[in-house]
Amino acid sequence: MSEVVLAYSGGLDTSVCIPLLRERYGFDKVVTVLVDVGQPKTDIERGNLRAKQLADEHYVIDARKEFVKTCLFPLIKANGSYEGYVLGTAIARPLIASKAVEIAKKTGIKNLAHGCTGRGNDQLRFEAIFRATDCRVIAPMRELDLAREWEIEYAREHGIDVPVSKERPWSIDENLWSRSIEGGRLEDPYFEPPEEIYEWTRSPSASKPTQLVEIGFEQGVPVSLDGIRMDGLELIGQLNQIGGEHGVGRTDMIEDRVLGLKARENYEHPAATILLGAHRDLEHLVLSRAELRFKVMVDEAWSELAYMGLVEDPLFADLNAFIDQSQKRVNGLVKMKLFCGSAIPVGRQSPDALYAQDMVSFDSQTLSQKDAEGFAKYHGFQARLLKRKCS
Ligand code: ARG
Repeated sequence: MSEVVLAYSGGLDTSVCIPLLRERYGFDKVVTVLVDVGQPKTDIERGNLRAKQLADEHYVIDARKEFVKTCLFPLIKANGSYEGYVLGTAIARPLIASKAVEIAKKTGIKNLAHGCTGRGNDQLRFEAIFRATDCRVIAPMRELDLAREWEIEYAREHGIDVPVSKERPWSIDENLWSRSIEGGRLEDPYFEPPEEIYEWTRSPSASKPTQLVEIGFEQGVPVSLDGIRMDGLELIGQLNQIGGEHGVGRTDMIEDRVLGLKARENYEHPAATILLGAHRDLEHLVLSRAELRFKVMVDEAWSELAYMGLVEDPLFADLNAFIDQSQKRVNGLVKMKLFCGSAIPVGRQSPDALYAQDMVSFDSQTLSQKDAEGFAKYHGFQARLLKRKCS
């Protein structure tokens, strides 16, 4: 009997994959794996229902805590962002893929499938994990070169009720950290997104009155909100709620995919915007100038690997080791002001601050200002030498 494990989200693409794997690939048994990384409960329930209707065997794995601990906390420490926006989809893919691999191992199945197209990044992220096994990799969307309209039709024929329509054709990817919206008229980069694509955030022009939130960090990881200690799952959930009401965390951009294609991308990520803003700010209080300059490069290299789904490259662990060491002193509080779509740091404190008020203050005489005179004489020395030669 030929069997296949499919990484399943419950959306259009992966739902269509189930009958395709039978009809076009001849599999007798399709096993679906739905990984809960914090997408809305209704999506999970819909996925479970559909899988019961379409698949031969179905697994749901609650990976939310693991996602926070093994993916999001390292991302926060690394200020993980790509071309200016916080990484979202990319960071969850290797975890989802590895859960599908786990089920394949457990059931002894030697075929792994995903529902990604041949145009995006997600195929690469899944396969970087899948191909490390001895399984055959199947990508029906890519291999059969399917268009969305065709899929919608095929889904209807197979009794799959699709929430996408010609009017709401969005392709959405959601996890605890970020929501991505693609497709339809958004593919015209000059078309302004309609309000309806957003679900986590209010329009910044209709946001709540200004609010302050205080985030506590320990070793680079957020541990409290407004003085109340809570686990990451709870904290991110609450900040998505609060930030969303202030219209914080919308991104509309042209993104360079790994393949080289430029794509118009829209995202919502309120908690991520607040937490990364606060984290970066705290780093500036506690890390040395040399550390900050160097860490920007490390963060960039980390983010690039994460974006490409290359988290099993040994460099990723090397970078994480540096980052973890650097975060030992990233402890303290950051006050963030939320208003009209913005989240800006307006206060910070830390037991590990390298800040010395007694030295920097306009009102202090701890340092003798005269001592800086010799330093100033050599500052810009070479430019002055050159000037003297040319004049
Ligand atoms: N372009 C983003 C990335 O590669 C998001 C892709 C999410 N997929 C979607 N169907 N909305 O990370």
